[in-house]
Amino acid sequence: MPMVTYVVPDGSTHVVDVPAGQSVMDGSVRNNLPGIVAECGGSCSCATCHVHLDEEFADLFDEASDEERDLLEYAEDRSPHSRLSCQLIVRAGCDGVRLTVPDSNG
Ligand code: FES
Repeated sequence: MPMVTYVVPDGSTHVVDVPAGQSVMDGSVRNNLPGIVAECGGSCSCATCHVHLDEEFADLFDEASDEERDLLEYAEDRSPHSRLSCQLIVRAGCDGVRLTVPDSNG
């Protein structure tokens, strides 16, 4: 399974197996990692699953939808690499993906 690296708000790093077809948010929640709150459960309506995706991995995921972009406009700590992790669906080629979870998700 693809291994995804999460850098969580306290600076610690967690490497997690995320099955293809699940979201980056799922991988965090299933492993009880801090930082991704995921209040809406993945329906792209809360932005508490905000992450910064390292640029080199951006092409491994679908582009952000208009809905996701709209929500991210209001996210704290927004950067050009901001994504909603519930919209980042892991595929086999995502092994080694790395992302940072901001300290402002709720
Ligand atoms: S979990 Fe709510 S927008 Fe991602």
